[in-house]
Amino acid sequence: MLVLVTLCVLVLLWWMSRPKNNPGCAPGPRPWPIIGSLHLLDKYKTPFQVFTELSKLYGDVFSIDLGTSRCVVVNNFKLIKEVLIAKGADFGGRPDFIRFHKLFGGDRNNSLALCDWSSLQRTRRSIARTYCSPRFTSLQYDHVNDVGTKEIAVFLRELRKLDLSKPCDLKPLVLAACANMFTQYMCSTSFDYNDRDFKTVVRTFDEIFWEINQGYAVDFLPWLLPVYSRHMKKLSDWASGIRQFILARIIDEHRATLDHGSPPRDFTDALLLHLEEDPNMNWQHIIFELEDFLGGHSAIGNLVMVTLAAIVQHPEVAKRIQAEVDTVTGGKRRPNLFDKAAMPYTEATIWETLRTASSPIVPHVATVDTEIDGFLVDKGTVVFVNNYELNLGQDYWNDPLSFKPERFLSSSGKVVKPAHFIPFSTGKRTCIGQRLVQCYTFIILANLIQHFDIKRAGNLKLQPGCVAVPPDCFQLMLTPRRTTD
Ligand code: HEM
Repeated sequence: MLVLVTLCVLVLLWWMSRPKNNPGCAPGPRPWPIIGSLHLLDKYKTPFQVFTELSKLYGDVFSIDLGTSRCVVVNNFKLIKEVLIAKGADFGGRPDFIRFHKLFGGDRNNSLALCDWSSLQRTRRSIARTYCSPRFTSLQYDHVNDVGTKEIAVFLRELRKLDLSKPCDLKPLVLAACANMFTQYMCSTSFDYNDRDFKTVVRTFDEIFWEINQGYAVDFLPWLLPVYSRHMKKLSDWASGIRQFILARIIDEHRATLDHGSPPRDFTDALLLHLEEDPNMNWQHIIFELEDFLGGHSAIGNLVMVTLAAIVQHPEVAKRIQAEVDTVTGGKRRPNLFDKAAMPYTEATIWETLRTASSPIVPHVATVDTEIDGFLVDKGTVVFVNNYELNLGQDYWNDPLSFKPERFLSSSGKVVKPAHFIPFSTGKRTCIGQRLVQCYTFIILANLIQHFDIKRAGNLKLQPGCVAVPPDCFQLMLTPRRTTD
């Protein structure tokens, strides 16, 4: 007992005698032994609110130890640009969380979003660009529209099969529609909404999207791993279930019909052809890239649900979207992507949802010893970009906590976004899927609101600072409107 007490006293004395901050590094709270400053994150519903509070004490760039990880938090737009743009090459890494490895076959570098920067990542991004960032005037954009509008017809048919006199569970249908838009667009195949394996895989992708949006103590305290062993096994099982479905139901058929002499039919063909041309790419890279992009559909499905949650709390927004869609279509047809320019309020509603939901930017990691605003940042330091502050701070917006889509409209009614609004980040690791997000979220939202009056049916389960809603989230009341179809 005496030995234990002496040991504790010695540890405490050592801890108290340590300098508060490493010389040259940004100031920050004094870390506790073992847990660092993890205990501070409990104070608010999202760690980013805590970061904003701490920035008032320590400045716009401050250090914070979270468990075993040395971290730096960057809180204003000028410094965020320094990290993401000016010194993007110094901050191209990602945190080494064990969960990320489990989700990607034991190696997070298999994932496009969770890998460290490398020449392989440059290649993977460039293959994806044509398909996942279609330009307005490109043939790909027309194809995105065709796929989206055809799937909307199926989605509305499925929706009408539900008993709409009762509150309905919309999320599984929205996710199935998004998944089919992605599989059709990227792999030229789609699935019946009642296909058991398809339903399982869509649900699994959604579970993963929710999981990735959560933080766990084990991320920063890896020695807790034995406590999380069942959770980690679940993540590995999810990943292998998805892998089996994609191989059996998508890739096998594609490989059998691949025509080496013709241009790629879709993203899957482009990946398969690239495999033959590029000695640096292997089979695993191809499969993981496809899986990663197909998984993007969950982000869109969740964004649609968060947008609907905002709209049911602001019925005047739904009325304005309905007025816009009725004017543009004359009530005679369904809206499509080429109506987007004439429906600025609908687009502005999506931007306002992204602003208020304020999904975090994936943390970056310093890959070399470097600096932010003159403060030393050691290689391996995790960098959090406080975009919660950019999205909801008083310094950046008037009345930031109110949901007002019109803040994204100019006096002439055009959509305008301030430079500091970067929901998809900026710089070399900016989101590759952002154009698909804007296209498919618009198509689903405009069509849903055209066809239904939507009301809340109970508690809306939402997590602040997050664009994900729980896999089993909330129900909504849908009342069909009078339309021509
Ligand atoms: C609600 C929708 C979405 C939001 C808010 C979002 C936002 C983001 C953000 C903030 C990043 C991190 C950028 C950085 O670290 O600087 C990111 C990365 C990424 N996103 Fe998205 N995203 C969305 C949907 C999608 C979709 C649908 C796809 C695929 C089709 C996609 C593909 C990616 C990829 C591949 C990366 C990693 C890029 C890299 O690290 O090099 N995202 N996204």
